[in-house]
Formats: sequence, structure tokens, C-alpha cells
Amino acid sequence: MGLPAKRLIVAIDTPDPVRARELVAAVGPSCGLVKLGLEVFSALGPAAFGVAGAHPVFLDVKLHDIPNTVAGAVRALLVHRPAMLTLHAAGGAAMIAAAREAVEPAGATRPLLLAVTVLTSLSAATLSQIGVAGGPRQQVLRLARLALEAGADGLVCSTGEIAMLRDAFGAAPVLVVPGIRPEGADHGDQARVATPEAAVAAGASYIVVGRPITRADDPAAAAAAIAASIL
Ligand code: C5P
Repeated sequence: MGLPAKRLIVAIDTPDPVRARELVAAVGPSCGLVKLGLEVFSALGPAAFGVAGAHPVFLDVKLHDIPNTVAGAVRALLVHRPAMLTLHAAGGAAMIAAAREAVEPAGATRPLLLAVTVLTSLSAATLSQIGVAGGPRQQVLRLARLALEAGADGLVCSTGEIAMLRDAFGAAPVLVVPGIRPEGADHGDQARVATPEAAVAAGASYIVVGRPITRADDPAAAAAAIAASIL
């Protein structure tokens, strides 16, 4: 399957299936993929895929377990045809390789595997609490290399990490970037934010936007405006 041309991914973060369908209908024309994350997937289970209709799905469930279990989960998810799937690079090279092996039978329709390196909610201090010295950037680079060498197709990263990752790994990895706020938008709980234009200019393959669209008075218009800003 070719990659969607539209670079906007909208996060459908709601446990309510009616609201989720409304949001997909509103933003669908402007986005390349819809993101189903842990909230909607925990609430609805695989029925969450039905909410997405015909839109390509970025399934953001950040798998992290022993290789055999992750491979089994990936095989179970394949039937729903997600276009992209996230897993934690910290699960290790064998886990990522097992996930890659599990998607291969789907051939050209297989989901892209995107590795999460360091959650953007973790600071240097919280990383040191869990035994990671050296700070987030060093850890992002280490885990990104491990994940790409083990078979991941790309990475989830923040705008501030894009240049470092493009320098190290070139143009090939798919970089999916959350923490996006249009000029003047409420930052919510996101600490390190960038505008859609800045993220794409820095080298993002796709940007993930949630609340600035889903909590807007007119989500369709908000999504269309962001999509137009990154053409
Ligand atoms: O509402 P907002 O635009 O902050 O939503 C961003 C989405 O991206 C949320 O679904 C969040 O879970 C996800 N995400 C993130 N930071 C990461 C990985 C995923 O904000 N590092």
C-alpha cells in the first residue's frame, strides 16, 4: 500500500463511538489517516476500526511485551488492516524483529511499524528515576538506531528531534510527529510544541493533531485550515 499523501493525522481521542464517528466524518476529507489510540481502543476494542470507516488507520497502541506476545498481538491486529502501528523501542531489538516478521505475510498491505523512543512526557529527571542516564536526546538516538536496525519503518518523535534523526538516518524513515499546536492554540498538557508548518519544514513525514481539531467549535474547518497550511 502506498503511503497517504496528506500529511495530517487526526487523533480521535474519545471513548464515545458516536462522537468518534462524528469526528471522523468531519476531519476525514482533510487528513491522510485517523489515529486510534489507547482511549478509543480500550473503550471499543476492535470495533474502533469500524469508526474509521474507509480511512487509513494509524493504530497507536504502543505495544511493549515479550517478542512472542507482541508478534501474536500484531498478527491479531493485521486482520483489521491498520496502515501504521506503534510499538515501544524499549521492548528491544528481538521484540521489534518479531513484530516485523509478523507483518510480513500481509505483503504490500502490511502496516508500517513505528517505534516510540522516549515518551514526550518523560523529562531528564524522570528518565534518571527509571535508570536512564544521559538525558532524553541520547536515549532517543540510541533507541531509534536499535528500532530501525531491527526492522521498524519509522519513528514517533517530537519536532525538536527531527533534525537529529534525519542527520543520523537520512530521508527514508517515516517520522510521525505529535505535539503540534497551530499559532495561538492552547498547549494543553503538551510541553514541547511546534506549529504544523514548522514540523513539516523540519522534515516530519506526518503530523498528529488532536485537541486543536477535536475540541474546536468546528473540527472540519480546523482540520481543513491545518491541512491547507502544510500543502
Ligand atoms: O491533543 P493532542 O494534539 O495533544 O494529541 C496528540 C496525540 O498524540 C494524543 O493522542 C497523544 O496520545 C499522542 N502522542 C503524543 N506524544 C507522543 C506520542 C503520542 O502526544 N509522544
